[in-house]
Amino acid sequence: MDVKMGHTLLSLLGFSVNAVLTIEPNWTAFFSGESVTFKCDITGGKDSSWYYSILQDGGAFLPYHKHEKYKLHSLTPGYSGAYQCFFHQKNSTKESNKIYLTVSERPQPVLTVSPSWPSPGASVTLNCRVDHPSAGWSFYWYKAVPQKSDYSYSFELLPGSENGTEQDLFIIDGQTHTAGYLCRAARGDPVFYSWHSKPKFVWSGDINSAASLTVSPDSVQHFTKTPVSLSCEGNSTEWRVRMFSKPDYLYHCSILGTMIGSTCTITSYRFSGVFWCESETGQFSNAVNITMECEF
Ligand SMILES: *[C@@H]1O[C@H](CO)[C@@H](O)[C@H](O)[C@H]1NC(C)=O
Ligand SMILES: *[C@@H]1O[C@H](CO)[C@@H](O)[C@H](O)[C@H]1NC(C)=O
Ligand SMILES: *[C@@H]1O[C@H](CO)[C@@H](O)[C@H](O)[C@H]1NC(C)=O
Ligand SMILES: *[C@@H]1O[C@H](CO)[C@@H](O)[C@H](O)[C@H]1NC(C)=O
Ligand SMILES: *[C@@H]1O[C@H](CO)[C@@H](O)[C@H](O)[C@H]1NC(C)=O
Repeated sequence: MDVKMGHTLLSLLGFSVNAVLTIEPNWTAFFSGESVTFKCDITGGKDSSWYYSILQDGGAFLPYHKHEKYKLHSLTPGYSGAYQCFFHQKNSTKESNKIYLTVSERPQPVLTVSPSWPSPGASVTLNCRVDHPSAGWSFYWYKAVPQKSDYSYSFELLPGSENGTEQDLFIIDGQTHTAGYLCRAARGDPVFYSWHSKPKFVWSGDINSAASLTVSPDSVQHFTKTPVSLSCEGNSTEWRVRMFSKPDYLYHCSILGTMIGSTCTITSYRFSGVFWCESETGQFSNAVNITMECEF
């Protein structure tokens, strides 16, 4: 057979004599702050004059490079695009395959907890979802600890989550109290972390020794003409009252009413949601469903 046929046959068998561009890690969906390493090579022999150039979307990106690999640190969305390399030697220039990279903003995973109202001692399943097509994540799971300074939470790693988990699920056995959880995802070396998820809560109607919430007047349904007072009691000197409202809103007393001492008084609002007390010492009270209706 002639040289040309042999050439074609070699190509069909996968032995391309062209340049080959590869990336490490070899996925193509990246996030701001991650890094990627490019490598441009040929299958045949090289003389000492070799160098390569890399183009991004057809424009000069790396005009002259003489090392085996090129590492790009701290990707940003502007690095999204099609990459191709050209391998140059004295006598020839060879063109590589194209690799399409996308770089998205650092993701915030979404945590779901199920069930929201476990019966005492039941298991609760946490699910952490990173909302981009992506690979290689491991997952870290945290307990939410109320922060005094603002209305945020700090995070305490849950036992068993120290090294991350491969699965995006985490099961908590024997849930008895109201509690908040968060997650985040990580991958790569050096490790790249997603943002923390928003906190999600599981609620318990049971009054526990450390904290309790009492509502007055004592009913589930209230009318906006009568103020409702929510009192926190228990093993802490400072409490705050929180409310969760569907689909995904988290309020604190000062938005809905007035907090004086450990009592929150709410007047003239129409809402429904779940209320509970929490303290910076990490205590959470029983939770209560309340519906406020307009009075006609
Ligand atoms: C990445 O490389 C590994 C091992 O070389 C391979 O198993 C995997 O399929 C590759 N993934 C992609 C997206 O190319
Ligand atoms: C490159 O070209 C020179 C002269 O033009 C020739 O002597 C040499 O054999 C060529 N090398 C290859 C690898 O083709
Ligand atoms: C985490 O990794 C360290 C070091 O590799 C190991 O000693 C430890 O047992 C691991 N912890 C868990 C919970 O797997
Ligand atoms: C609050 O309402 C949910 C349903 O929306 C219910 O499952 C839960 O038992 C209620 N909790 C209390 C303490 O009444
Ligand atoms: C109250 O809190 C303190 C410190 O957190 C703890 O040592 C103590 O056991 C708690 N008491 C009760 C009744 O929970």
